This record gives sequence, C-alpha cells and structure tokens, in this order.
Amino acid sequence: MIKKGIILAGGYGTRLSPLTKCVNKQLLPIHDKPMIFYPLSVLMLANIKNILMIVNPGQIENFRNLLGNGSRYGIKIKYKTQNKPRGLPDAFNLGRSFIKNENVALILGDNFFYGQSLTQKLESSSQHKIGATIFLKEVNKPENYGVAKIQKNKIKNIVEKPKKFVSNNAVTGLYFFDKNVCKYTKKLKPSKRGELEITDLINEYKKKGNLKFEQIGRGAIWSDAGKIEDLINVSNYVRSVEKVQGIKIACLEEIALLKKWISKDTIRKNIKFYGNCEYSKYLKDL
Ligand code: TTP
Repeated sequence: MIKKGIILAGGYGTRLSPLTKCVNKQLLPIHDKPMIFYPLSVLMLANIKNILMIVNPGQIENFRNLLGNGSRYGIKIKYKTQNKPRGLPDAFNLGRSFIKNENVALILGDNFFYGQSLTQKLESSSQHKIGATIFLKEVNKPENYGVAKIQKNKIKNIVEKPKKFVSNNAVTGLYFFDKNVCKYTKKLKPSKRGELEITDLINEYKKKGNLKFEQIGRGAIWSDAGKIEDLINVSNYVRSVEKVQGIKIACLEEIALLKKWISKDTIRKNIKFYGNCEYSKYLKDL
C-alpha cells in the first residue's frame, strides 16, 4: 500500500528556455492551471495524501505561495531542495527521511496523465505491497523514451532510447516503489551523462523478479510537457476537454471534496485565495 508520494519538480528546463529562465517549468501554465496541479492531482487520485515536493534552489517560496502546506487540498506537502539535477532516483536520496522505510510513489513534475480507467489503475496499483510498478504507454517515437519489451505479459527488459526498435511501450514518469527503493538507489552509479538513471533502478527490481506494469490504454493520454510543442499540445487538449465537457481536469479541490478530505468551507476559503477567476467560478459550482 502506498501512502507517500514524491513530485520531482526541479530540473533545468533547458528545452523551454527562455520561458524557464526565471520561472520553474512546473509553474508554467497548462491552459488554466500551473503545470504542478496535474501531477499532484494524479497522486491525489491514487489516494496519496503525504507528499514531498522536490524543487530547485530558491524555489520553495514560490511553490509554497501556490500550494502552502497542502491543507487547502486536504493533504500534507513538504518541500526539499535539489541543488542540481542528479537524475530521477536522486529523489530517493533526498527523500530518505521522508520515506522512512515505507512504500513510495514518484511522479515527474512535467508529466500529464488523463483519461479512461486511469483512476482505477492508480487505485489498484497503489495497493501493491511489494515490488515496483511502472506505467507504460504506447508512443509514436519510442526512440525518444525508455522502452519496455513485454513477453508473456511480463517485462523482459527496458532499454533507454533504443536506436533499434524494441517496442512502442514507453516508460512514463510515474512509478510506485516498495520500501527497498532507498537501499537500491544507494547501489546505483551515475551513467555516462553523469546522472542516476531510473532505468537502472527499475532493473534492480526486475533482477529480483519484483517488477509489475500497468498499461495506459487508448482511452487515456500521457505526455510530458518538457518541449514547447508538447506544452502547447497539452494545453490545447485540456482546453478542448474542459470546454466541451464543462468539467475541469486536475481541479485539486474537486478531487479532495470527492474523497471527503476537505469541507465546502475550505472551498469557500480557496475561492477567496484564488480571487475572481474561471477556476474560482468552477469551485463555486462544486
Ligand atoms: P527532464 O525533462 O529530463 O529535465 P529538465 O526538466 O531539466 O528539462 P530539460 O531537459 O529541458 O533541461 O526532467 C523531467 C522531470 O524531472 C522534470 O519535471 C524535472 C524533473 N527533474 C528533477 O526535478 N530533478 C532531476 O534531477 C531530473 C533529472 C529531473
């Protein structure tokens, strides 16, 4: 069972420069909300209320101004600085005292997930007690991703940015790990590019025969928003869905209310906090 989650919201955001020269990538807008709302909503949908947000030096204040200690959404958020991007598994070095030998989820701050059966998959995977679970999604250009080869419903191997075709199943930026994660991370050595690699960590679980996967189906979408094209595409997607259906994607209060983590009174306070905006109007209708 997973009760804790880490959002990795640091990084240089080089590909989005100059947008990211003075604003952290995860605080840039995806349509009507800051990017960070989207991965945060995914953890909340997985019933994870205890969250560690890892950010760049000097950025804690900005994130805190937006999300506070999480009580606005019925959750707990702690913050930690990563001095420089040392790779995704660094989350487990930085988060050791937060994790305290428990299971933990990791989501990348620029990852967007939405669609059919996702909540159900998140809820069921968060019940796993041992091993690791990764989330796969079929993509058009597998050569740009870590890719999993599946045989007889098991992961055979994972290849980072394969030059020769392996499969279309990209490893997305959402991972559930059991309590061994800090121990396995300690064993990792930086790769040629000088970073700890998530593929190496996943392979540790694979070696132990403790790696599971969930496939995100055709009815759901996954994208990272690390490039300007993707940022705009995801924004347009959110805008279309919200406009046509009259619902909001990643409305944190809506999720928290549904789960009875906050009261209507908290929502009234949040409306005051955001001020007169479309998001507040939506909250009023809740
Ligand atoms: P990337 O997109 O790989 O890196 P980046 O955000 O620095 O962007 P760019 O490649 O354009 O310079 O990172 C994926 C996500 O993980 C992103 O949300 C930032 C986060 N991240 C960290 O917080 N710390 C890290 O050490 C790394 C490698 C990534």
